[in-house]
Amino acid sequence: MSRRIIIEPFKIKSVEPLFISSPSEREEYLQAAGYNPFLLKSEHVLFDFLTDSGTSAMSSAQWAAMMDADESYAGARSWEHLRESIFNLTGYPHILPTHQGRAAERILYGYLGGKGKHFISNTHFDTTRANIEFSGAEATDCLIKEGQDPFLEFPFKGNMDTERLEKLILEKGVKNMAAVILTVTNNSGGGQPVSMSNAKTVGEICKKYGVLFILDCCRIAENAYFIRHREDGYKDKSYFEIAKEMFSLADGCVMSAKKDGLVNMGGFLALRDRKLADACTNLLIITEGFATYGGLSGRDMEALAVGLKEVFSPGYLTYRIRSTTYFGEKLNIKGVPVMMPIGGHAVYIDARTFYPHIPVYQYPGQALVCELYVRGGIRSVEVGSVMFGKYDENGKLIPAKMDLVRLAIPRRVYTQSHIDYVAEVFDELLSHRDKVRGYTIIEEPPFLRHFTARFSPVGK
Ligand code: F0G
Repeated sequence: MSRRIIIEPFKIKSVEPLFISSPSEREEYLQAAGYNPFLLKSEHVLFDFLTDSGTSAMSSAQWAAMMDADESYAGARSWEHLRESIFNLTGYPHILPTHQGRAAERILYGYLGGKGKHFISNTHFDTTRANIEFSGAEATDCLIKEGQDPFLEFPFKGNMDTERLEKLILEKGVKNMAAVILTVTNNSGGGQPVSMSNAKTVGEICKKYGVLFILDCCRIAENAYFIRHREDGYKDKSYFEIAKEMFSLADGCVMSAKKDGLVNMGGFLALRDRKLADACTNLLIITEGFATYGGLSGRDMEALAVGLKEVFSPGYLTYRIRSTTYFGEKLNIKGVPVMMPIGGHAVYIDARTFYPHIPVYQYPGQALVCELYVRGGIRSVEVGSVMFGKYDENGKLIPAKMDLVRLAIPRRVYTQSHIDYVAEVFDELLSHRDKVRGYTIIEEPPFLRHFTARFSPVGK
């Protein structure tokens, strides 16, 4: 008999206590943090959904491999293990280890970019865009229109708009194109997957014009799960085979291993082309480390070599995606406006719909993030006008397209009862949502203000 309950496919060998606090204590902590959860101490947080990046719990097999690591400067055995693990998955012969994803981005996009160059992606993640723009190049997002409607049910809302892609390549000029980047899953667009057929079309267009095709593959295992369960022709393929097929379509990849690598730190860049890889290796040696460790210690490389295999295990991936869906659907049934369908690594809430009485210039997303913390000890992140808002020449806020709150789920960290607790906190939030007020910014830096801005509650 098949059972509907999702069990965590692991036993717990080592535990870390949770820090329990009361709403009044949390109010004090939050006030001291300028109403910005980024400025809270993690020990004052009960459930931390700030990010799924670098927050995974490692397995006993990963810890065991770390003890056996080789910390030699050059040609370490641990590098061979990692190289083999990445090569078996991607098929790319040139592999450059980096300390995290943005280091690989800085090397590749810094080299390919510069003034007059163009990058096109389904959606550039913030650090991707920042590295491209820092080089002087231009980054254009090219997501299908279905992906821009938060509540529309569509199986692959992370897909690239391939008609527009071709037009953009011609408009920008083939010789000015630095690369096309397909981000799987599409983090900034709600953790939504990209279909294999879309990746194929993107690959064909890139081949036709001779444009480099790069995968931002930090959640490729989660993406493979969606392909197997939603796309015709994949139900009998393994998740690993599906990921391999996607890599076979591209010319290289950039990975933040802090996500589907199941490690707390790590990343890599892998390429088919020798000349490009040689140029990037020079930059790797200057800024990260020697070619056989980049930004990683031997033990980091061992943990990642094992993590890249574990992440494709059917038991793990089923638990991972189904438990994220379980959480999102539970909120949806309660009437919380969540982005649909639920993505792979996070649940996104539309704060403008949740707090319709809070005007956009009083940051409804920040209000929800603060409420979640004070009422439930839950840390989440605002992905809206605090993060992306700009000012016009008169100092008036130009809001972001949407005001979302992301609850990103660390891998293998929280149990179903933890998730049930979080869902229960939403009952309280829903019951008094009309009493919640917005926030104004009282202090902010010129760039990436969401990390350090300080706020004041309206009317206090
Ligand atoms: N690309 C994507 C799609 C990402 O989600 C991230 C990180 C990066 C690149 C950069 O990798 O952090 O290792 O340098 N996303 C994290 C998040 C920070 O919370 O979504 P990194």
